[in-house]
Parts: sequence; structure tokens; C-alpha cells
Amino acid sequence: MSEKMEDRYILAFETSCDETSVAVLKNEDQLLSNVIASQIKSHQRFGGVVPEVASRHHVEVITACIREAMDEAGVTVEDLSAVAVTEGPGLVGALLVGLSAAKAFAWAHGLPLIAVNHMAGHLMAARQVKALVYPLVALLVSGGHTELVYVAEPGDYKIIGETRDDAVGEAYDKVGRVMGLPYPAGRLIDELAHQGQDVYDFPRAMIKEDHLEFSFSGLKSAFINLHHNAAQKGEALVQEDLAASFQAAVLDILMAKTKKALERYPVKTLVVAGGVAANQGLRERLAEEIRDVEVIIPPLRLCGDNAGMIAMAAAVELEKEHFSDWSLNARPSLAFDSLEP
Ligand code: KG4
Ligand code: ZN
Repeated sequence: MSEKMEDRYILAFETSCDETSVAVLKNEDQLLSNVIASQIKSHQRFGGVVPEVASRHHVEVITACIREAMDEAGVTVEDLSAVAVTEGPGLVGALLVGLSAAKAFAWAHGLPLIAVNHMAGHLMAARQVKALVYPLVALLVSGGHTELVYVAEPGDYKIIGETRDDAVGEAYDKVGRVMGLPYPAGRLIDELAHQGQDVYDFPRAMIKEDHLEFSFSGLKSAFINLHHNAAQKGEALVQEDLAASFQAAVLDILMAKTKKALERYPVKTLVVAGGVAANQGLRERLAEEIRDVEVIIPPLRLCGDNAGMIAMAAAVELEKEHFSDWSLNARPSLAFDSLEP
């Protein structure tokens, strides 16, 4: 008879960008708490994240976030099995706040430390929906990244395609800025897009090419040019139609490359995650067009940055006893290896 495994509790930290977050996870998928302190209001007047401001905010609130996460979860330090933290990618100063807090906490309480790649966190947020079946393909779309990832087994993340220039979320935010929308603009453009028509003809870069790479800078430039030319001529553009046309181009590109990835890597599960996975238009297109493959998208509250997703990725590493030592440092440009180097 197999012995019942003891419950494992992970305390996780995420401070790679503009959310300070601390979570407690029980075993693989029971999120007992996931405290998220957003700084978006402080960055909005600058139209984007100011790294120095982000670091200062993290320092101010992180201790309170730890306390709140532990209280809400109803656990004590004695219950914990490990401490997990985002080591990268992200803003170096912001990452260092989470790393310092996690290392100090782990060292003081004699707990093992687990380093997590932020993008692995986004992907593993899908674990909240159900147990994942491997191998799987993931489309990861966030403010800093756009990549297709092949995961042969838990924890083995390999890039099979990525953007050559801008990330999708970045394109949404830049286009939103031109439209006069507050940062981050993704959700607002998504809402406007649902009230408009795809009437402006925007480019869909490399959509027919037989590779899994993306490019969004041409689309962004085309949008900005259209906007500036209209402004110079004193012509008014319909915001809803602009949003709908931009979003249609983005989604055509994402869908084409994702379908190509599924042809090349015939798996049974597609995970779509990251901040842009909150996009309703993307969710609709996936539901309509992806057949014979199960599409798993994390719940909306876990699409944006949060420590719960970091804890779920850490649970995979805890199982393998992949621990870090005290020399662990921030890795702002950390990236998965490519499957085909
Ligand atoms: O993953 P995330 O929270 O942070 C990074 O790791 O970058 O992603 C943030 C990005 C922002 O660019 C934001 O505009 C975008 O996700 N985003 C969306 C939507 N909600 C958030 N983009 C398109 N549609 C949405 N509904
Ligand atoms: Zn993120």
C-alpha cells in the first residue's frame, strides 16, 4: 500500500514588473492565497512602467503582502515546504526586491529556495483549470513576450517560435497610447474592438510563411502612420473600428502561427497564457477555430502577473527537488532554450 504523501505548502513571490504579489499554494493547485498589490496607478501618468518607481513600491509593500498571504492562507512558517521566487525575466531592480525578500525568508526559516522563470509561471497558471496532459504546446502572450513553447514533460520548456520585435501586449499598449487610452491599453482596445468593424487594412506580417516566428512592429507602425496622416488632414477616425481592425490583424497572426505549431507538434493540449490571454477576442477565436486539441486558458484573475502562478510552476520543481543556493541573482533577460538550436 502506498503511503499518503504529506501536504506541501509553497510561499511564492513575484515582483518582476508592476505588481507586488505573494501567494501560498497547497500541493499542485490549491491556491490558499494570492495577494496582488498593483502599482498601475503610479505608472499611468507616465504612460508605462517606470523601473525606479516600481522597485520603490515593491519595497514599500512586500512585507505587508507576505503577512497578508500567510494570514489569508491560514498557515504558519512551520507548515511551509519551500519558498519560490521569480528570478527573471523582468526589471532588474524590481526582481531584486522579490529575490531579497524570498532569500531572507527562506534563510531565516531554513527552507529550500526555488527559482522560477516568470514565463513558466504564466504557463503553469493553467494548472488552476485542470491537471495538464503532456506533451503540450503553449502560446504565451504578455507585455514583454510572445512565444510558442513546447513542453515535453513537466518543467521542460522549449521555445519553438517567438517574436522578432515587439511583444503583442507591447503593441497593444503603444497603439493605445496613440489612441489616447490609459496604460495598459489591452483590455480597453479589446472592449472597443467588440463595438467596431475591421475596416482599416492592417498588415499581417509573415502570416503565410512556414515558420513559427511573429512580428508586430510593422503593424504598430502602420497603425501609427494611419493615425498621424488622418490627424494631419484633420480627418476623424472611428476609435472602435481602429481597435477592431488592429485586433483582427493581431488575432489573425496569433491564430495562424498557433495552428502551424499544432500541425508541427501534434499534441492534445494547447495552453494559452500571459496578460494578453485575458483578451476576449482571442478566447472567442480559439473556441471557434481550434479543433481536436483541448485549449486551456487560466482564469482571468491569473492571466496577469501574480505569485500564484509562480507557486504552481515551483510545485513542479519542488517535486524534482530543484533548489537554488543563496547566490541566486536576478536574471532580467532569462529565456527558455530553443527546441531546435
Ligand atoms: O503578463 P502581463 O500581466 O505582464 C507581463 O508579464 O508583461 O501582461 C500585461 C500585458 C499588457 O501589455 C496589457 O495591455 C495586456 O497584457 N493585456 C491585454 C488584455 N489584458 C491585458 N491585451 C489584450 N487584451 C486584453 N484583454
Ligand atoms: Zn507577466
